[in-house]
Amino acid sequence: MDVIALGDPTDAQIGEWQSVAAAVWACDRPGDPVPDLEQTRARLLVPPPASRNVLWAAVDGGRMCGTAYLRLPDDAGRAAEIDVQVLPAHRRRGIGTRLLAVAADRLRAARCGTVVVQVLAGTPAVPFLEAHGFHCVLSLRVMLLRLDELDPLRLARLVADAPPGYRLARWTGTVSDELAGELAMAKRAMADITVGGSFRWDPRRVREMAEAVAARGDRLYTVAALHGPAAAPRIAGFTEVVVSSTAPERAAQYDTAVVPEHRGRRLGIWLKAAMLEWLRTERPDVREIETDNADDNSHMLAVNAELGFRHQRDHLDYQADVADLPTLVR
Ligand SMILES: CC(C)(COP(=O)(O)OP(=O)(O)OC[C@H]1O[C@@H](n2cnc3c(N)ncnc32)[C@H](O)[C@@H]1OP(=O)(O)O)[C@@H](O)C(=O)NCCC(=O)NCCS
Repeated sequence: MDVIALGDPTDAQIGEWQSVAAAVWACDRPGDPVPDLEQTRARLLVPPPASRNVLWAAVDGGRMCGTAYLRLPDDAGRAAEIDVQVLPAHRRRGIGTRLLAVAADRLRAARCGTVVVQVLAGTPAVPFLEAHGFHCVLSLRVMLLRLDELDPLRLARLVADAPPGYRLARWTGTVSDELAGELAMAKRAMADITVGGSFRWDPRRVREMAEAVAARGDRLYTVAALHGPAAAPRIAGFTEVVVSSTAPERAAQYDTAVVPEHRGRRLGIWLKAAMLEWLRTERPDVREIETDNADDNSHMLAVNAELGFRHQRDHLDYQADVADLPTLVR
């Protein structure tokens, strides 16, 4: 078995990567829609903002049997993100460890000190990571809402029940120049729930995040609660949903945050209800929305339960000091 770096993956290599991902997905998360080829291509070729992707494949007998994806941050102080996958029939032969060691050596060369990964609770990833120096830092409850189960009258009442002093704004894609600084400020309000060092949001990064979604061919929907004068609006909270171009049936909830001084006024449920009402009319191709929340974030869990989200499964965020990871260099 060899591990090869995929500097500039060819179509054939992306196709093989997709086959590994589909087999792993079918084994570890049966029943969930498998990412399609275009989603895999976009994930590999379009790195998230302020980072770059480094990719490796484990090849056995000329066939790809494992993959490693590393997202290296541009900020030295931020955590990298890793994802190692091995075909079910090739597991427990040290392939995952070898891929992790190659990625760890790259992290050391880049002087990156911390790495994070999100895995599904109850899968082999848990003992694998714990055997290799990772520890669990956050448990997340994944919840799903079926839009056809929503009661439109109840939704309309929630949206009409505007907290006094606030008004709604909504847009698709990149935020306007007028609100970019405000959105960055509101995103910094999420620092208390971010694993791996908080991202230093500023207007440029807010735009880059929206551009990265568009570059994948996906669509970003944002609803914000504004307050203050119409000439200089302030953002008190916002919620974002992304709809994939190739698999729009299950949309993904991205960030939702209410700025600390505006919390406790039902802005969270108002924003999310307004988003659901918008998607119901604008995107009939969206059937369900998936979200995850820290299992101790009782406020957001209550908001989602009130809207009709149902518990689906649990994710675990693991973190390691790069110094504790296996190495190939001895
Ligand atoms: C997690 C995964 C990458 C492990 O790949 P692998 O090639 O089987 O891992 P290794 O053979 O290198 O295992 C190394 C050690 O991890 C632990 N381990 C791995 N799988 C395990 C399992 N199913 N049960 C218990 N321990 C396990 C063991 O300590 C193992 O050493 P051992 O075989 O000598 O006992 C693989 O199961 C996978 O692809 N899972 C789905 C994708 C995923 O969730 N990836 C996690 C993100 S990093």
